[in-house]
Amino acid sequence: MSDVVMQVAGLTKSFAARGGSSGSVKAVADVGFSLARGETLGLVGESGCGKSTLSRLILSLLDADQGTVEIDGVDFITAPAARKRNLRRRIQIVFQDALSSLNPRMTVGVNITEPMRLQGLGTARDRRAEARRLLALVGLRPEDEDRYPHEFSGGQCQRIAIARALVLNPEIIVFDEAVSALDVSIRAQVLKLILDLQQQFGLSYIFISHDLGVIKRICDRIAVMYLGRIVEIGSAEAVCGSPAHPYTKALLGAIPIPDPRRMRIENLGLIEGDAVGVPQEDACAFAPRCPMRFDRCLAERPLLAAASPRHDAACFLLNSGKQGNPP
Ligand SMILES: Nc1ncnc2c1ncn2[C@@H]1O[C@H](COP(=O)(O)OP(=O)(O)O)[C@@H](O)[C@H]1O
Ligand SMILES: [Mg+2]
Repeated sequence: MSDVVMQVAGLTKSFAARGGSSGSVKAVADVGFSLARGETLGLVGESGCGKSTLSRLILSLLDADQGTVEIDGVDFITAPAARKRNLRRRIQIVFQDALSSLNPRMTVGVNITEPMRLQGLGTARDRRAEARRLLALVGLRPEDEDRYPHEFSGGQCQRIAIARALVLNPEIIVFDEAVSALDVSIRAQVLKLILDLQQQFGLSYIFISHDLGVIKRICDRIAVMYLGRIVEIGSAEAVCGSPAHPYTKALLGAIPIPDPRRMRIENLGLIEGDAVGVPQEDACAFAPRCPMRFDRCLAERPLLAAASPRHDAACFLLNSGKQGNPP
């Protein structure tokens, strides 16, 4: 598992603030991690913390302000066009809303093999055969290839999207809230398929969800994001078993934290304007909601540091003896 397929470093992306206000939002700030072959890295955090922006940066669907995304040592972001096309085959994405990610005017078979056509691979006949093979692989019927996406349920559409993600034989697949919209029983079936495919093909996954319950069940390692930054990262066992960041503890239900929207209204005098949404560079972004904050948290930003071997967190309480979680 030490065989690194992807190395992300210093990834940063700002957007102009929405809603007419001036300034910018750092949607992703200085994010770095590595992904090992055959590993599932979970990415968890509340809505708006930058998970989808990070996935689009990783796939080079969006230009980063700074940072690198190396696949087998080649920077995907700055690679020349031909090289980029080749790297693009190796990393694929499955989105939350499968139906809208499929082209409604194309048959399922054509949807699945469209990436082949765009890459100039195979004849029309090859592509049909491939569509049929992949449909069977994801638990649908080969003859479904001539039907249209709207004829399928949400879970079936997600299987079709997974088939399309597999068509170019990628090594890495990013699942961006891919099972979040599915009913519990369907979700379990699609998750099983996703894990079976990983076993079968030795795939590496980045599995994004706002739901730590799902992440906890299927991931080897977990990265917790808060307002654009990774605040804790480590093995699923370490992050869920001995969480080091108060935000991770909150996500695990161990400590209550205020709802940012409600808090913004209640504490308007205390937290000016958008202070919760636009963190100060020289303070911990989580401090306004943190039940454990102290003076230093409002004056300095904690960096990721070792909480235990291969388990990092960005919190001043780390190893301070104040959190009652001795290593
Ligand atoms: N195209 C965009 N223009 C402006 N702001 C954006 C854009 N995309 C995302 N954002 C902002 O970036 C932040 C992160 O969004 P996103 O990556 O979608 O978060 P998540 O997927 O975790 O819900 C949010 O504050 C969001 O409003
Ligand atoms: Mg998202």
